[in-house]
Amino acid sequence: MSQRYTITSALPYANGPVHIGHLAGVYIPADIYARYMRSKGEDVLFVCGSDEHGVPITIRAQKEGLTPQQVVDKYYKQIKESFEDLGISFDIFSRTSNETHKETASAFFKKMNEDGKFIQKTSLQFYDEKNHQFLADRYIKGTCPHCNNTEAYGDQCEKCGSTLSSDELKNPKSALTGETPVKKETSHWYLPLDQYEGSLRKWILEDHKEWKANVSGQCKSWLDQGLQPRAVTRDLDWGVPVPVENAEGKVLYVWFDAPIGYISASKDWAKQTGKDWEPYWKDKDTKLIHFIGKDNIVFHCIIFPAMLQAHTGYILPENVPANEFLNLEGDKISTSRNWAVWLHEYLKDFKNQQDVLRYTLCANAPETKDNDFTWKDFQARNNNELVAVFGNFINRTLVLTHKYYNGVVPEKGELFDIDTEVLNAIKTIPKNVSTSIETFRFREALSNAMELARVGNKYLAETEPWKLIKTDPKRVETIMNISIQIAANLTLIFEPFIPFSTEKLKTMLNITISGWENSGNTGLIPSGHTINTASLLFQKIEDEEIEAQIQKLQKTKEMNQAETPQTAPIISPEISFDDFTKLDLRVATILEAERVPKTDKLLKLKVDLGFEQRTVVSGIAGSYAPENIIGQQVTLLVNLAPRKIKGIESQGMILMGEDEKGNLKFISPSESINAGCKIG
Ligand code: 2FM
Ligand code: ZN
Repeated sequence: MSQRYTITSALPYANGPVHIGHLAGVYIPADIYARYMRSKGEDVLFVCGSDEHGVPITIRAQKEGLTPQQVVDKYYKQIKESFEDLGISFDIFSRTSNETHKETASAFFKKMNEDGKFIQKTSLQFYDEKNHQFLADRYIKGTCPHCNNTEAYGDQCEKCGSTLSSDELKNPKSALTGETPVKKETSHWYLPLDQYEGSLRKWILEDHKEWKANVSGQCKSWLDQGLQPRAVTRDLDWGVPVPVENAEGKVLYVWFDAPIGYISASKDWAKQTGKDWEPYWKDKDTKLIHFIGKDNIVFHCIIFPAMLQAHTGYILPENVPANEFLNLEGDKISTSRNWAVWLHEYLKDFKNQQDVLRYTLCANAPETKDNDFTWKDFQARNNNELVAVFGNFINRTLVLTHKYYNGVVPEKGELFDIDTEVLNAIKTIPKNVSTSIETFRFREALSNAMELARVGNKYLAETEPWKLIKTDPKRVETIMNISIQIAANLTLIFEPFIPFSTEKLKTMLNITISGWENSGNTGLIPSGHTINTASLLFQKIEDEEIEAQIQKLQKTKEMNQAETPQTAPIISPEISFDDFTKLDLRVATILEAERVPKTDKLLKLKVDLGFEQRTVVSGIAGSYAPENIIGQQVTLLVNLAPRKIKGIESQGMILMGEDEKGNLKFISPSESINAGCKIG
């Protein structure tokens, strides 16, 4: 009997295209898992769709001058097509603006409401009187309480990265009209998460000790802080309307309806295929697995399970193997700053090379910590691993089989130790790959699978059939037979990872074998079988292609720098002329300079003022090397009270100019002048 799996991957917001961060974190591991389970003969339903409600969509619509529906239609199509092109094998890619979803989400809410699972509360929310609407946090702008950025949003300051709530903003303004919003009372439905705290704690921390540490760690931290009731409705005109009377202008909160989208997508799939969706969500023997990124953990491990429990009748997830984040060339991926490698652009720039991206993103997936994607690494993985190991092994095996045997697989003869070792590797490696996939360690699984290609490459390098053919042709028959068995096994164990290439390889080998149960078989292809002609499985990626991508990112960086809003300088409070004359500023010449031990930034300087010499400690080591500044004339504030810094008395302060990146420069006379002369 096969095991039933419902595999979900986070519904991407239909407010922009998909990028490599989404792929490495969610869609590639989910697809590997789904393909693997299918190849094992399990009963798999792999669902996804686009998340089409919520403020991110309305904001994008406003920016693009479109309606929210036009925005989601545009991105739904683009996202769906690019996933298909990459070979992500969803059984359905649905969307949350369709009728099935509206009905499903409404019914879900209605049942919970009728069963008394919500509490209703009133609260004061920001309201734009000009536009007659309540404002979501994202629609409020103001000054960040942490960094004084005047362009901070009510939910986040993009300059200093702080998470905010609109109440914290100084001088809040409506982003829609620029008006100062007022506070107005509004009533909402809340899910009393506190009531589920005990059962969730037991379920996650005791019954699911096998979950990834990053996932259970985040859950524990939420649980330890104590769960609070959460509003599941919003005052907004885009979303699933709250299905009760007198709730005009209110919709379900996007994070309430989005996970229900997995269920609606399953219903759409059932309609299309004539199958029954219910066992995939209600049968206790079904394993429900959610693939998500780390920012979605609380929704999938705490809020959605609480909703499922409250609704009753649904199973809870078996595992939620969330990943961390992927960075790009050392910087956080950012949609708003266009700092990303977009899937649809990759597919255009690297035609028919889907597997290179699939391979690279899996090999470098942020499974336990944030990771970095670089184009150089992408090139190296392709050229040194796919081409030089996998491709090279396949090419040699197929070319030699054609050359020596006209493409007919020879028989295996007497076995030597090296052959037995290789045959053992064929038997054991697929098992290792299985174990890694089943425990959600996809990087390890891929590296285990690659081991078989390495074994094959090494086998040919060590046995050198091209030399033996003259002296011991019988032996070569065995070597080539075994090499062909390795190649056949590679088609099976690599299919979840690089399905386009394994399909191509199967055509070259002229086989149709599939199914994980066949992996580990050392006689997959019988002698006498004729293979097809060989073609290159992977192609080298040249430096110019990589340079072009790096250049593209460089341009983005330059544009971002040019567009960075220049925040108005904050000028210190006014002082009187008398205050100014209190500062005794003098030109000083640096005589000696050395680093202060055990510090990164400090230099100890001896400076000459003409009438005396002084010791000054200055935080300039990040900008100047001590040996380069001897003789430099600088501005010194000489009547500053002495201070001890790292045990050294600093007798004055050197004035520096500081740019926006924190680079420091001396403020020096334009021409040499006597040390000690007054500045003023
Ligand atoms: O973070 C996101 O991109 C959300 N759109 C994920 C939703 S997952 C699910 F619950 F629908
Ligand atoms: Zn800030």
